[in-house]
Amino acid sequence: MSKIKVGLLGGGGIVDAHIRGYRTYADAIEVTAIADVVDETARRRAAELGATAYSDFRLMIDEADLDAVDICLPHHLHAEAIVAAAQAGKHILCEKPLCLTVQQADEVQRVVSAAGVTLMCAHNQLFLPAVSTAKQLLEQGILGSVYEVRTSDSFYNDFNPQNMGWRATAATSGGGELMDTGYHPTYLMLHLAGGSPVEATALLSRHRLRFMDSEDSAQVLVRFDNGVVGHLVTSWAYQPPPGSERFSVVGERGSLHSDGRDLTVSLRGSTSQTYDFDDVDTYVSEIGHFADCLRSGARPLHTEREGIDVLCLILAAYEGARSRTISPVFGRSEMGDVGL
Ligand SMILES: NC(=O)c1ccc[n+]([C@@H]2O[C@H](COP(=O)([O-])OP(=O)(O)OC[C@H]3O[C@@H](n4cnc5c(N)ncnc54)[C@H](O)[C@@H]3O)[C@@H](O)[C@H]2O)c1
Repeated sequence: MSKIKVGLLGGGGIVDAHIRGYRTYADAIEVTAIADVVDETARRRAAELGATAYSDFRLMIDEADLDAVDICLPHHLHAEAIVAAAQAGKHILCEKPLCLTVQQADEVQRVVSAAGVTLMCAHNQLFLPAVSTAKQLLEQGILGSVYEVRTSDSFYNDFNPQNMGWRATAATSGGGELMDTGYHPTYLMLHLAGGSPVEATALLSRHRLRFMDSEDSAQVLVRFDNGVVGHLVTSWAYQPPPGSERFSVVGERGSLHSDGRDLTVSLRGSTSQTYDFDDVDTYVSEIGHFADCLRSGARPLHTEREGIDVLCLILAAYEGARSRTISPVFGRSEMGDVGL
């Protein structure tokens, strides 16, 4: 079987992690072209990968012999890149966030489904063994009815006005920390809650990175249609206190919680059970999953459907914060109904 040929869009920081995946699955998938608007970056990445360099990703999509693209661009360019790739019949791996507005989401959904290509969201934390095991246990009903899901992703980010680039500006990042790192605990919450979010609100803060247009920290509350209440904490301002969980789920029969590595299940009336997992490079797993899905035609764990669900939840949280109310979460199916 011939290898899947991928064109990288953007050659910045996250590409190092994706390259580890392409090297690990070199028998199945390879990067044959790379586009970056900074010539030096495009040439350096092309030399590193043995690929052809482009400065214009649209030209690369038109000219290069590609089966798929891997979008690692600043956020404001994701929708345009997805549409160009899908219209050219290329499969797509897209870094978070999928896109930034409901109008873009609507277009992405229409164009990807009309083209019949596979789009996988690069939601790498789903590949943590603690997450996949928790998901399996929840689907088996280990906790009975689920009441509460908590997720978090916070760290001390040493951004300053000189090194922060497009992330400091809402026009290019689509918001603040919640739209960026906050995407991870949001897709994780959706994955574990097992229902559809119906309402949300947020408290946003700029604790430390005051030069940002928007928040450096967010706390989000969500209600799901199956009765689950979600609480999410995410920040670039501070390191969370030792012992903080990455996620936890509480239900009628007990709880499970994880620091992102191990998973502990505590059921009422029994001794707790801890699963110890080895460290996993989730970016490597993500590239392997993308290659497998393209080879087998299987549906990726998260496609544009889940990417849009995450976006709608984040937009509702922002709206709740702006209006100081609890905002409805419009889903994919209602996009047309609300005139978006
Ligand atoms: N999953 C994760 O844990 C994770 C971590 C970091 C970044 N990301 C995501 O990866 C994406 C890229 O982030 P990054 O940290 O690599 O950013 P970055 O700024 O390091 O890299 C972006 C690259 O895109 C290039 N670029 C900008 N405009 C372009 C254009 N018009 N055409 C072609 N190239 C262009 C820049 O020159 C730069 O090399 C974002 O979506 C980000 O949210 C994900």
